[in-house]
Amino acid sequence: MNPPSEWRSDSWRERPITQGVTWPDPAHLAAVEAELAGKPPLVFAGEARRLQAHLADAVAGRAFVLQAGDCAESFAEGAADFIRDKLKVILQMAVALTYAGGVPVIKVGRIAGQFAKPRSESFEERDGLRLDAFRGHIVNGEAFTAEERRPNPDRLLQAYHQSVATLNLLRAFTTGGFASLTRVHAWNQEFVTNSPEGKRYELLADDIERAMTFMRSCGIDLADDHALQAVDFYTSHEALILPYEQALTRRDSLTGDFYDCSAHMLWIGDRTRQIDGAHVEFLRGVANPLGLKVGPTTTVEGLRRLVAVLNPNNVPGRLTLISRMGRDRINESLPPLIEALREDGSQVLWTCDPMHGNTYKAAGGQKTRHFDDVIVEVSQFFAVHQSLGTWPGGLHIELTGDNVTECLGGGSGLEESDLTTNYTSICDPRLNATQSLDMAFLVAELLQRTATSGARSL
Ligand code: TRP
Ligand code: MN
Repeated sequence: MNPPSEWRSDSWRERPITQGVTWPDPAHLAAVEAELAGKPPLVFAGEARRLQAHLADAVAGRAFVLQAGDCAESFAEGAADFIRDKLKVILQMAVALTYAGGVPVIKVGRIAGQFAKPRSESFEERDGLRLDAFRGHIVNGEAFTAEERRPNPDRLLQAYHQSVATLNLLRAFTTGGFASLTRVHAWNQEFVTNSPEGKRYELLADDIERAMTFMRSCGIDLADDHALQAVDFYTSHEALILPYEQALTRRDSLTGDFYDCSAHMLWIGDRTRQIDGAHVEFLRGVANPLGLKVGPTTTVEGLRRLVAVLNPNNVPGRLTLISRMGRDRINESLPPLIEALREDGSQVLWTCDPMHGNTYKAAGGQKTRHFDDVIVEVSQFFAVHQSLGTWPGGLHIELTGDNVTECLGGGSGLEESDLTTNYTSICDPRLNATQSLDMAFLVAELLQRTATSGARSL
């Protein structure tokens, strides 16, 4: 796809922008943008194309996407352990899903760039003091002081540097032995044998064990086979802070296309998907695979227009629609959208974000989500696809490898009174490591049923 002729990497500036940041010192911002524009890209265009090809397999029902990571990454959590533990859970989840689904799992992190958060209010007022709302570490700090809340362009550079370091470690981990299938499977065995919530999944884990024994018996050296040692791991984030995205956009010398080289995949949030708005304008012109969050206010006509603008050539893998309806709305809201696009012959991938439509405030004031609500929404997502004969293409979730207490329920039965024990999210509540595995094994069972019932899209 060559960029549409009337598109430039800065044409978004002529469009109305929602969630735009008012930077108090525009000259400072401009200097930072120039500096970023001179930096090396984080990813290579060829990698983004490879991801898109994998996603095209998922559109055809031959792969499943697991997109997961923090709600918003924190400058305080850039250390190796945080990255390692997040990757570890994602890989563990991927093994269960790969086995149960009988298809490759495309692993995409909300990582190495997921620093911004959209806000419903631009300002926050406490005791008569009115300050900018916290918009994620790429913009300002969460502490309620004038100094911290002032949008500071230097944070764009800090976000870039943390993303570089994070991605560097991810590349090392995913190819250097950490991701070996036998090792990841051993972690899953540990979860199944040593944790109460894991017990339920013994059968599935035993099946995987038997499959690996079978491979060994057939003469495959599990420690030597390259495919079993390494994984492809892709990065993604919401493309919210457009000066940052524009500054990291490069023209690919091979194809002449523009790629936003801040990540392999970028998505548009539910609050910034205005058809004439700045975010849609920017993203329609870059050739990366795109995500679009689809919330309960999305209409069939609105979605059709967005799909036409974001994927005019109907290329499979280009556009992933991430449904985030909420457990009580998905049954009603999702089917008409899927059916309309199917009628159009639209080659889109449908994935499920069961987190964002199920957030509420606990009695203690913390934002939380209940594990059961999340599971209900995922089950409904699978059921909807089952009834339409379409492929439930993936899962999009917010998690951390840490032992946090942010979401309720799960095997360990976290309660509202536990929320204060270890609540470290700077944004939305994340599933902790055990809740994430619990979820992966449950979804694996759903996927197994789908796979054996032979449902495929198109
Ligand atoms: N390379 C394969 C894949 O990515 C198999 C594999 C190796 C794997 N290590 C893994 C799968 C860890 C999931 C998790 O699918
Ligand atoms: Mn979130």
